[in-house]
Amino acid sequence: MKRFVDLADMERDAVLDLLALAARLETHPEPHALAGKILGMVFFNPSLRTLSSMQAGMARLGGNSFVVTPGQGTWQLEHRLGAVMDGDRAEHVREGIPVLASYCDALGIRAFADGKDLAADLAETQFNAMASLVDKPFINLESAINHPCQALADWKTMNDLAVPTSGKFVLSWVKHPRALPLAVPAATLHMAAQRGMEVVVLRPDGFALPDAIMDKARRAAAASGGSVRETDNRAEALQGAQVVYAKEWGSTRHYGDAAADAQLRQGLGDWMVEESWFGGAAADCKVMHCLPVRRNVAIADHVLDGPRSVVLREAHNRMPAQMAVLHRLLATSR
Ligand code: CP
Repeated sequence: MKRFVDLADMERDAVLDLLALAARLETHPEPHALAGKILGMVFFNPSLRTLSSMQAGMARLGGNSFVVTPGQGTWQLEHRLGAVMDGDRAEHVREGIPVLASYCDALGIRAFADGKDLAADLAETQFNAMASLVDKPFINLESAINHPCQALADWKTMNDLAVPTSGKFVLSWVKHPRALPLAVPAATLHMAAQRGMEVVVLRPDGFALPDAIMDKARRAAAASGGSVRETDNRAEALQGAQVVYAKEWGSTRHYGDAAADAQLRQGLGDWMVEESWFGGAAADCKVMHCLPVRRNVAIADHVLDGPRSVVLREAHNRMPAQMAVLHRLLATSR
């Protein structure tokens, strides 16, 4: 494996192999597997889990890591091609990224969507331009439309909990004060489809996921024996559900228009996960969320603190899942 950018790049069996390695590394640590190896990470956006679990995972495998957050103790990086750099950005990614890659054995980049032009974000224009500058093993730490590390950890979480691979998985839009990117919903949807699940996207009018994202998930479902559909009918969606994956995202009808998005979400006050949602769901239906989560906005306290919530297990699983990725990228090339 040379790059970990999108679970869709991998056959289902290859993902299962990675998950088996993650489970093995959890019970049988390999503290010297990556001795002498260095992981570099560039975070254009904030992180709690991705940054710390990558550093911890690398250390647990015997390797080292460094983190650069452009503009915070380092030069601000320009990414626009052809930019006249007479402003506050002192260095272009065309130099900065290859320089950083030259110091390490693998590089990861986090760069969220611009959130202005849906077509450009769907095409991963900015992220792919930076990824193309890296001639080393490369990891997507969350791009405009993808978060494969989160998706792998979430798949592992469902395996740990013995959620059937054919189980019903509801990806539900939930409230947030502002529009958030499509990376996690897109990655989560694809992961559940690739796992072979009956996937329902539950979202209010105006928040349908783009056709490109739905079609990609449907192709994964067709290959794995799962299914993908969408609805705005909560009771019908949650009937028999084994997992509700709560996630916030921006209006796709008003992509890049913060005022119109805010107006649309004003009337969506009941899109916060509460226990009353689960009347028709499976008795042990789990609630997942990638974190960070806004309590009593996206998910009520009593759900997050109750037995359905597996958010802490998901967050923990970021580490073994990414250790498996690092092991495949770096240990096998020795
Ligand atoms: N879920 C996730 O990626 O968390 P961070 O943004 O804290 O890394």
